[in-house]
Amino acid sequence: MVSQTESAVRRFITFTRNLHFEEKDMERRWEKLKPFLRELLADPEIRARSNDWPECVQKDRAENLLFYEDPDFGFVINGLIKAPNTRTQIHDHAHNWTLYGVLDGSETIERYERLDDGSKPDYADVRQTDKFDVGPGVVDLVRPWQIHAEQSGRERTVAIIVRSEKAGGFLQGRYDPVNKKYWQGYGPRQVPYKLD
Ligand SMILES: [Fe+2]
Repeated sequence: MVSQTESAVRRFITFTRNLHFEEKDMERRWEKLKPFLRELLADPEIRARSNDWPECVQKDRAENLLFYEDPDFGFVINGLIKAPNTRTQIHDHAHNWTLYGVLDGSETIERYERLDDGSKPDYADVRQTDKFDVGPGVVDLVRPWQIHAEQSGRERTVAIIVRSEKAGGFLQGRYDPVNKKYWQGYGPRQVPYKLD
Protein backbone atom coordinates (compact mmCIF):
# COMPACT_ATOMS: atom_id res chain seq x y z
CA MET A 1 0.00 0.00 0.00
CA VAL A 2 1.46 3.33 -1.05
CA SER A 3 0.92 6.12 1.50
CA GLN A 4 -0.33 9.54 0.45
CA THR A 5 3.08 11.02 1.25
CA GLU A 6 4.85 8.38 -0.79
CA SER A 7 2.65 9.02 -3.81
CA ALA A 8 3.08 12.82 -3.47
CA VAL A 9 6.85 12.40 -3.31
CA ARG A 10 6.84 9.96 -6.24
CA ARG A 11 4.78 12.44 -8.29
CA PHE A 12 7.24 15.20 -7.44
CA ILE A 13 10.20 13.03 -8.45
CA THR A 14 8.52 12.15 -11.77
CA PHE A 15 7.87 15.86 -12.52
CA THR A 16 11.45 16.72 -11.65
CA ARG A 17 12.91 13.94 -13.78
CA ASN A 18 10.72 15.01 -16.72
CA LEU A 19 11.95 18.58 -16.35
CA HIS A 20 15.54 17.33 -16.48
CA PHE A 21 14.74 15.65 -19.79
CA GLU A 22 12.77 18.53 -21.26
CA GLU A 23 14.37 21.73 -19.98
CA LYS A 24 18.10 22.06 -20.53
CA ASP A 25 18.28 25.73 -19.53
CA MET A 26 19.10 25.68 -15.80
CA GLU A 27 17.44 28.99 -14.92
CA ARG A 28 14.20 27.97 -16.63
CA ARG A 29 14.34 24.41 -15.25
CA TRP A 30 14.61 25.61 -11.66
CA GLU A 31 11.95 28.30 -12.13
CA LYS A 32 9.60 25.64 -13.56
CA LEU A 33 10.23 23.37 -10.59
CA LYS A 34 8.81 25.93 -8.12
CA PRO A 35 5.09 25.08 -8.52
CA PHE A 36 5.83 21.36 -8.19
CA LEU A 37 7.59 21.92 -4.88
CA ARG A 38 4.69 24.15 -3.75
CA GLU A 39 2.33 21.29 -4.53
CA LEU A 40 4.41 18.88 -2.43
CA LEU A 41 4.47 21.36 0.46
CA ALA A 42 0.67 21.62 0.26
CA ASP A 43 0.24 17.89 0.88
CA PRO A 44 -1.49 17.74 4.29
CA GLU A 45 -0.02 14.39 5.22
CA ILE A 46 3.59 15.35 4.64
CA ARG A 47 3.31 18.25 7.09
CA ALA A 48 1.81 15.97 9.75
CA ARG A 49 4.58 13.43 9.19
CA SER A 50 7.27 16.08 9.48
CA ASN A 51 6.47 16.33 13.21
CA ASP A 52 8.46 13.11 13.60
CA TRP A 53 11.47 14.21 11.57
CA PRO A 54 14.57 14.59 13.74
CA GLU A 55 16.13 17.98 14.32
CA CYS A 56 19.31 18.62 12.34
CA VAL A 57 22.25 19.48 14.53
CA GLN A 58 24.45 22.44 13.67
CA LYS A 59 27.94 21.70 14.95
CA ASP A 60 31.11 22.21 12.93
CA ARG A 61 28.99 21.49 9.86
CA ALA A 62 25.29 21.71 9.16
CA GLU A 63 23.23 18.57 8.69
CA ASN A 64 20.45 17.68 6.23
CA LEU A 65 18.15 14.69 6.09
CA LEU A 66 18.60 12.96 2.74
CA PHE A 67 15.23 11.73 1.48
CA TYR A 68 16.11 10.96 -2.14
CA GLU A 69 18.99 11.04 -4.62
CA ASP A 70 18.18 10.61 -8.28
CA PRO A 71 20.27 7.82 -9.84
CA ASP A 72 20.32 9.40 -13.31
CA PHE A 73 20.30 13.17 -12.84
CA GLY A 74 21.87 13.49 -9.40
CA PHE A 75 19.32 15.90 -7.93
CA VAL A 76 18.44 15.33 -4.29
CA ILE A 77 15.55 15.99 -1.91
CA ASN A 78 16.64 17.06 1.55
CA GLY A 79 14.91 17.89 4.80
CA LEU A 80 16.15 20.57 7.15
CA ILE A 81 14.68 20.83 10.64
CA LYS A 82 15.94 23.78 12.63
CA ALA A 83 15.49 24.45 16.33
CA PRO A 84 13.85 27.80 17.15
CA ASN A 85 16.06 30.88 16.77
CA THR A 86 18.81 29.08 14.85
CA ARG A 87 20.87 31.25 12.53
CA THR A 88 23.05 29.91 9.76
CA GLN A 89 26.37 31.46 8.81
CA ILE A 90 26.37 33.73 5.80
CA HIS A 91 27.25 31.33 3.00
CA ASP A 92 26.85 30.29 -0.61
CA HIS A 93 26.13 26.87 -2.11
CA ALA A 94 28.97 27.04 -4.70
CA HIS A 95 27.74 25.77 -8.14
CA ASN A 96 24.68 24.00 -6.70
CA TRP A 97 21.13 25.10 -7.58
CA THR A 98 18.76 25.02 -4.60
CA LEU A 99 15.01 25.29 -4.16
CA TYR A 100 14.22 25.98 -0.54
CA GLY A 101 10.60 25.23 0.44
CA VAL A 102 9.21 26.03 3.88
CA LEU A 103 6.92 23.29 5.17
CA ASP A 104 6.36 24.41 8.76
CA GLY A 105 7.36 27.34 11.00
CA SER A 106 8.77 30.61 9.72
CA GLU A 107 12.17 31.94 8.76
CA THR A 108 13.93 35.13 7.89
CA ILE A 109 16.07 35.00 4.76
CA GLU A 110 18.88 37.47 4.17
CA ARG A 111 20.57 38.08 0.86
CA TYR A 112 23.99 39.63 0.34
CA GLU A 113 26.02 40.98 -2.54
CA ARG A 114 29.77 40.85 -2.86
CA LEU A 115 31.45 44.20 -3.43
CA ASP A 116 35.07 43.10 -4.00
CA ASP A 117 36.35 41.13 -7.00
CA GLY A 118 37.43 38.05 -5.02
CA SER A 119 41.11 38.44 -5.94
CA LYS A 120 42.37 38.91 -2.36
CA PRO A 121 42.73 35.61 -0.46
CA ASP A 122 40.57 35.09 2.64
CA TYR A 123 38.88 38.45 2.03
CA ALA A 124 35.31 39.30 1.06
CA ASP A 125 33.37 42.51 1.39
CA VAL A 126 29.66 41.68 1.46
CA ARG A 127 26.63 43.88 2.04
CA GLN A 128 23.08 42.86 2.88
CA THR A 129 20.71 43.66 0.01
CA ASP A 130 17.49 42.04 1.17
CA LYS A 131 15.83 40.57 4.23
CA PHE A 132 12.38 38.95 4.18
CA ASP A 133 10.20 36.58 6.17
CA VAL A 134 8.91 33.33 4.71
CA GLY A 135 6.30 30.90 6.02
CA PRO A 136 4.73 27.57 5.06
CA GLY A 137 4.29 27.07 1.33
CA VAL A 138 6.91 29.61 0.27
CA VAL A 139 9.56 28.41 -2.18
CA ASP A 140 12.80 30.38 -2.53
CA LEU A 141 15.23 29.78 -5.40
CA VAL A 142 18.88 30.05 -4.34
CA ARG A 143 21.03 30.32 -7.45
CA PRO A 144 24.67 29.18 -7.66
CA TRP A 145 27.06 31.41 -5.67
CA GLN A 146 24.21 33.47 -4.21
CA ILE A 147 25.24 34.70 -0.75
CA HIS A 148 22.61 34.31 1.95
CA ALA A 149 21.73 33.34 5.54
CA GLU A 150 18.59 32.02 7.20
CA GLN A 151 17.25 32.32 10.70
CA SER A 152 14.41 30.26 12.12
CA GLY A 153 11.68 32.02 14.07
CA ARG A 154 10.27 31.22 17.48
CA GLU A 155 9.12 27.73 16.47
CA ARG A 156 10.85 24.68 15.05
CA THR A 157 11.20 25.17 11.31
CA VAL A 158 10.93 22.46 8.68
CA ALA A 159 12.08 22.88 5.09
CA ILE A 160 12.08 20.58 2.07
CA ILE A 161 15.03 21.41 -0.14
CA VAL A 162 15.73 20.30 -3.69
CA ARG A 163 19.33 20.59 -4.89
CA SER A 164 20.80 19.94 -8.33
CA GLU A 165 23.53 17.87 -6.65
CA LYS A 166 24.07 16.29 -3.24
CA ALA A 167 25.82 18.81 -0.96
CA GLY A 168 28.59 17.95 1.47
CA GLY A 169 31.24 16.64 -0.92
CA PHE A 170 32.56 20.00 -2.15
CA LEU A 171 33.57 23.32 -0.65
CA GLN A 172 31.18 26.25 -0.28
CA GLY A 173 31.91 29.88 0.61
CA ARG A 174 31.51 31.40 4.08
CA TYR A 175 31.44 35.09 4.85
CA ASP A 176 32.01 37.29 7.88
CA PRO A 177 30.81 40.78 6.92
CA VAL A 178 32.13 42.48 10.08
CA ASN A 179 35.74 41.35 9.73
CA LYS A 180 35.46 41.03 5.93
CA LYS A 181 36.65 37.43 6.06
CA TYR A 182 36.06 34.73 3.46
CA TRP A 183 36.76 31.04 3.88
CA GLN A 184 35.42 27.75 2.60
CA GLY A 185 33.91 24.74 4.25
CA TYR A 186 32.07 21.59 3.30
CA GLY A 187 28.29 21.77 3.00
CA PRO A 188 25.80 19.89 5.14
CA ARG A 189 26.41 16.30 6.21
CA GLN A 190 23.81 14.04 4.62
CA VAL A 191 21.80 11.83 6.95
CA PRO A 192 19.75 9.24 5.02
CA TYR A 193 16.12 9.25 6.16
CA LYS A 194 13.20 7.23 4.79
CA LEU A 195 10.23 9.47 4.02
CA ASP A 196 7.40 6.97 3.73
FE1 LIG B 1 21.86 27.99 2.30
